Amino acid sequence: MSPTDAHTNASRPESVTKAVIPAAGLGTRFLPATKAMPKEMLPIVDKPAIQYVVEEAAGAGLDDVLIITGRNKDNLVNHFDSVPELEYTLQRKGDEGKLGKVHGSSELAEVHFLRQGQPLGLGHAVGRARLHVGDESFAVLLGDDLIDARDPLLSRMIEVHDREAATVVALMEVPAESIHLYGCAAVQTTDEDDVVRITALVEKPDAADAPSNLAVIGRYVLRPEIFDVIDELEPGRGGEYQLTDALNVLAAGLGDRPVYGVVFNGRRYDTGDRADWIKANLLLGVDHDELGGELTEWVLDFADRLRASVGDQTER
Ligand code: G1P
Repeated sequence: MSPTDAHTNASRPESVTKAVIPAAGLGTRFLPATKAMPKEMLPIVDKPAIQYVVEEAAGAGLDDVLIITGRNKDNLVNHFDSVPELEYTLQRKGDEGKLGKVHGSSELAEVHFLRQGQPLGLGHAVGRARLHVGDESFAVLLGDDLIDARDPLLSRMIEVHDREAATVVALMEVPAESIHLYGCAAVQTTDEDDVVRITALVEKPDAADAPSNLAVIGRYVLRPEIFDVIDELEPGRGGEYQLTDALNVLAAGLGDRPVYGVVFNGRRYDTGDRADWIKANLLLGVDHDELGGELTEWVLDFADRLRASVGDQTER
């Protein structure tokens, strides 16, 4: 498809229909919880992290989801399948609420699974999606970043992709001391406050070398030419095939179309390590319909007690 065709098709609602969710990491930061279970199955409040991500994809109209799995994939496959015996028991009890929760995950989208094979990095994982995706644009969603459903990001990215026939990456401002944890973008402003043109990308730079404080957060809308670039990639940071490096090739003008960034200002919950995961549980817990009231009171009371005990220790 030429860029002109893409522009002509810009209003097609089905411009992007597929989502790819890499979920093949070893999850070593969460051992031993992740010894026999992928980290994407760790719950945030009452849902596994990956369910939030599939809900986000489905919410943006992407109802074909490919999960790239590693070891322990059975838990993931089971979670998005139906469970007749459990459903039968809940039906007999007339427990519609819980039945809805069981059905919820299996009815969200058409979920497919593919093994990554070897853990060679995010670029390699995305490259594995080529046969499933074909010659179409598609979204990539990383499970370590949860985006609050009240602050839609993916639909805005798809809008920019459709209008510009461009690759689109989600960016967020982070403090300089955190930029080494992320891909980082060199950008030029555009007429729209939340949209920038990306001219270069570098994976996890030292603060001193970072071209900006705009970090890549785990949402991408990619055009199919990314697959050819991934095929030609050399191993990058950590000896892995980095998606950031493939995007940098496109940003440097070596693809037909530009790379844009959508700068996100909404609520994002990082679940990548243990402390962040606990914080994400609290942040979403205090907003939860059924648990919010009780949890908020407890957190406030706990904060008072903690402050008092820290105060006691400093006085000693
Ligand atoms: C990956 C990407 C990185 C991106 C980050 C967002 O890194 O390689 O560019 O900024 O996700 O969460 P990871 O956190 O998997 O090491």
